[in-house]
Amino acid sequence: MTRFFFLTCALCSLLLRDSAYALETESSLTRELLESAKDSEFLDWLKSLRRKIHEYPELSFEEHETSRLIRTELDSLGIEYEWPVAETGVVARIGSGAQPWFGLRADMDALPIQELVEWKHKSKVNGKMHACGHDAHVTMLLGAAKLLQKNRDKLKGTVKLVFQPGEEGHAGAYHMIKEGALDGVQAIFGLHVDPSIPTGTVSSKAGPMLAGSGRFTAVIQGKGGHAASPHKARDPILALSMTILALQQIVSRETNPLEARVVSIGYVQGGEALNVIPETVKFGGTFRFMNSESYSYLKQRIKEMIETQAAVHQCSAVVDFMEEKLIPYPATINDPGMYQHAKKVGEKLLGEHGVKLYQMMMGAEDFSFYAQKMPAAFFMIGTRNETMKSVKGLHSPHFVIDEDVLPVGAALHASVAISYLDIHAEIK
Ligand SMILES: *[C@@H]1O[C@H](CO)[C@@H](O)[C@H](O)[C@H]1NC(C)=O
Ligand SMILES: [Zn+2]
Ligand SMILES: [Zn+2]
Repeated sequence: MTRFFFLTCALCSLLLRDSAYALETESSLTRELLESAKDSEFLDWLKSLRRKIHEYPELSFEEHETSRLIRTELDSLGIEYEWPVAETGVVARIGSGAQPWFGLRADMDALPIQELVEWKHKSKVNGKMHACGHDAHVTMLLGAAKLLQKNRDKLKGTVKLVFQPGEEGHAGAYHMIKEGALDGVQAIFGLHVDPSIPTGTVSSKAGPMLAGSGRFTAVIQGKGGHAASPHKARDPILALSMTILALQQIVSRETNPLEARVVSIGYVQGGEALNVIPETVKFGGTFRFMNSESYSYLKQRIKEMIETQAAVHQCSAVVDFMEEKLIPYPATINDPGMYQHAKKVGEKLLGEHGVKLYQMMMGAEDFSFYAQKMPAAFFMIGTRNETMKSVKGLHSPHFVIDEDVLPVGAALHASVAISYLDIHAEIK
């Protein structure tokens, strides 16, 4: 017992001394990294990568050309990687190969949106657009790869660069983990562009940051007939109307007002003629929650509400949560230690006012799967610039990115990784 105590203390003081030293040396390296990334040749390279990816957006699990571009760049930087992981995913490795292993993550997929921004590098694929900035995420991680590779002799462990498919609703992160891509990785960091905060700033928070998300569709089966004789039919449209109202009560009447939950109906489809009661109607929506109890509760009550409301109106209902194909996302919960670590590095890079406190919202992000498995921190990185008009929200067809974010993200990725390895390097 005594011996154990002594050993622990000796380790503690070693660790403390080590990390204080590490923070000092890393401070100058951090600034150096940002300077390198802002160098005009480096910046031009980043912009050209981002624009290439932007011109050829690919949807979830179809990111074949994006994946190829990533591998080509890694090849030319002389960086080893594993591929394919989860269809199109790439996991690169920089450093000694020894522990600790630290993960940096970028998602690769685009959205089924028609770009409405008129500019030289507008999407060349009809109906597809990088409207969530994943083109910038890939670019910033490739930028980090270049910075890390240049400093590979200084790495006190290994950085794993995780390029994942299918963030937009398809749980790509879940599949990366399932295929073992994250085995052995001790902690992970991820960035998402954010047009609500200025370029050159980042924001995040410890603990809960984003919501968990599930989906459902339902079919209400009635009995079609002439609209003039409703008594001879079973009206599924009325049943649906009452069901939608009833579903709103789950949050307003059954949820502790201090707990965050959402149930929203996003589509309704039924009937074709003004004088016909249709046979069936379809509808669906999303529900948001902050923990697994809330998830189970919402799922059960949504099913009950739809089935019983249909029954009240002499109809029947089938509810589908589509979980085989569309795995629900857990809430994104940042590890307080990892958050503090990244915040400190961010402040060194961007100044004390460069790191803001994130206002929680009920959006969802599959980075949450990594955060379930290991200490993780997810940061938003600002792209707002009034001059550039990069002020439109994520998923807007008018979405524009201030490309000055690219060197900032690359340097932040690299610095967070380098200093994590410095602090957590095994004591020999
Ligand atoms: C916004 O963009 C313009 C044009 O590229 C640039 O001159 C300016 O410095 C940027 N402002 C900020 C706050 O980044
Ligand atoms: Zn998105
Ligand atoms: Zn996104």
